[in-house]
Amino acid sequence: MGSRIVATGRALPRTAVSNHDLARRMDTSDEWIRTRTGIARRYVISSGESLVDIAAAASKTALARAGMRPAEIEAIIVGTVSSEYGFPSFSCQLQHRLGVDSIPAYDVAAACSGFIYALSVADNAMRAGEYSRVLVVGADALSTMVDWDDRAVAVLFGDGAGAAVMVAEPGPRGVLSSLLRSSGEYWHLLSVRSSGVRATLDSEVRRSPDDAIKMKGPELFKIAVRSMADVTLKVAERAGVGLAEVALIVPHQANIRILNAVADRLGIAPDKVFTNIDRYGNTSAASVPIALDEALEAKRIHDNDLVLLNACGGGLTWGANLLRW
Ligand SMILES: CC(C)(COP(=O)(O)OP(=O)(O)OC[C@H]1O[C@@H](n2cnc3c(N)ncnc32)[C@H](O)[C@@H]1OP(=O)(O)O)[C@@H](O)C(=O)NCCC(=O)NCCS
Repeated sequence: MGSRIVATGRALPRTAVSNHDLARRMDTSDEWIRTRTGIARRYVISSGESLVDIAAAASKTALARAGMRPAEIEAIIVGTVSSEYGFPSFSCQLQHRLGVDSIPAYDVAAACSGFIYALSVADNAMRAGEYSRVLVVGADALSTMVDWDDRAVAVLFGDGAGAAVMVAEPGPRGVLSSLLRSSGEYWHLLSVRSSGVRATLDSEVRRSPDDAIKMKGPELFKIAVRSMADVTLKVAERAGVGLAEVALIVPHQANIRILNAVADRLGIAPDKVFTNIDRYGNTSAASVPIALDEALEAKRIHDNDLVLLNACGGGLTWGANLLRW
């Protein structure tokens, strides 16, 4: 038995913020942000908006496309570090919002690698025969955790959610292999204390700098390139597949220069790497499922294509999934 993604969905907050908007609030420029990161705009959550609602919208789209009612789902697994509560988990809130009862619902906290981790957990559970239909979600709102005076961090992040419906299925299609890695040694390169303060860009409430995301950008950049390249090679090796056979890589969208450097290192043509960072920024665990949903909509993925998902994030965590579509 294996597992296969049968449908995806995505949803974003209402408010789009361009680099020009940010340049009016802080000492930065559209030119700096575009050339250093590839980002032109991002969506950020406003006061009164709920990330759980956004995740529910993405989930409903995925479920409708799968031709499934929420009640048919047997488990909900969410990659997130953005629950408004210490507990209940984000997944339990999402379960309630979807009107589903008495199924397992739990979060996987792996920061930007959250969706890669959640997909692997779901796949393993389905292989073990535990569930036959699982909703896997990546949702984050890191814009609520930045210090808006720290321009090196504040310009990078956007918010959103992406969802995938997975079904247990024998046969050659679906998840071929996953590889998850973490190294707590590097925790200090990207971290945020849990302050309990939810500070949206439009509210008066501000996180204190001590409670905002702390990042050592240049060090993180180098490790992200190395680790994403390594896990990409190894997940393909594990499945006995050559990278040349992969039709499309759908990576975590952290920085266009990271994606280009990984492609360079692996000798992968840029047109085999899906990017949408210009429109969303780094949406953390939401970035891979949002990109996957867009790649499908743009018909960049066809039946039986080999598709590789990869990510690196706070923890540090990194990982990849290889799928036969
Ligand atoms: C953050 C990042 C874009 C910074 O790019 P960089 O080329 O490494 O830039 P540096 O940090 O060396 O800063 C270069 C200069 O730009 C300035 N700068 C930083 N942010 C700026 C901004 N938003 N606007 C204008 N200038 C900025 C710095 O102050 C520095 O100025 P100085 O040379 O006068 O000191 C890059 O390091 C990065 O993307 N790292 C990985 C981050 C990441 O992916 N995090 C999430 C992982 S999931």
